[in-house]
Amino acid sequence: MDRIHLDFLRVTEAAALSSARWVGKGDRNSADQAACEAMRSVLNELDMRGVIVIGEGERDEAPMLFIGEELGSGNGPVVHIAVDPLEGTNLCANGTPNAIAVLAAAVEGEGFLMHAPDCYMEKLVVGEECVGVIDITLPPRVNLRLMAKALGKTMDELIIGVLERPRHDELIAEIRGAGARVHLIPDGDLSVAIAALDPDSGIDGLMGIGGAPEGVISAAAVQCRGGEMQARLRFSSEEQRERTLKMGVKDLDAVFRTEDLARGNVMFAATGITSGDLLKGVRYRRDYATTESILMNSKTRTIRRIETMHLEAG
Ligand code: FBP
Repeated sequence: MDRIHLDFLRVTEAAALSSARWVGKGDRNSADQAACEAMRSVLNELDMRGVIVIGEGERDEAPMLFIGEELGSGNGPVVHIAVDPLEGTNLCANGTPNAIAVLAAAVEGEGFLMHAPDCYMEKLVVGEECVGVIDITLPPRVNLRLMAKALGKTMDELIIGVLERPRHDELIAEIRGAGARVHLIPDGDLSVAIAALDPDSGIDGLMGIGGAPEGVISAAAVQCRGGEMQARLRFSSEEQRERTLKMGVKDLDAVFRTEDLARGNVMFAATGITSGDLLKGVRYRRDYATTESILMNSKTRTIRRIETMHLEAG
């Protein structure tokens, strides 16, 4: 796992470098396709029997990196891989913060990643100091009080990341009504979930509803970094509910904890595309490009921040 773990850095770097060519060009689909092609090409070079468990969609709707797609040389361990080649397609297209290329992985038998359907997920993510104090079934204002106490902060010092969506109007009003602050993001709740794990990020937690695939990848980061995630699936159609049952989820209303979403030995890799709460974006110089990545491994208990100069990419 350790060598593959380092190899995954090349995967997210390649996806970031390819999609970065589309930053600010207003074309989210081309940016996504570029990230996807680059990620797939490098994944195919690795010595593993890789299987996509979270990807760009089901086989019939995604030309590549679809759920169940097999990647790698065919030699080596069976590795379950959750990918989001371009998390924040609009962020990349608009040149706004927090677009990242990201993946999480677990060797079969050593670690587990939930096979999440492409539905929504209500998420509550907090850092290490708030482990054991939050409960997603309680009203947000109660969780905020519990978090402030655990962090030794006043309510006014508490900053919560929330996606800017009409569905969050009530949540935002409740957070502000409780005296805390909202860090509103147009997209990209994965970066903010991971930032919330870092006590120095200035973000104390993530609340609200975002994508379930992004939720599982966030949980892999929580498993590596420490902290806590609680989640509930949210469905917008009967078809989504049926698909979820078919994927093996028994209780559609269950509260999922970190270990239900990602457990055992898992790894996480992300490279910044546009600069944001978690990482710097791709920067071009005359004859090279620089990327910043974060690489985390729950087995080796390591968190690496890696700046790479790509001399061929300038
Ligand atoms: P994309 O990269 O697929 O555009 O997703 C970005 C994102 O903002 C995620 O970070 C978030 O979890 C999800 O979309 C929220 O979905 P919606 O835009 O439907 O509210």
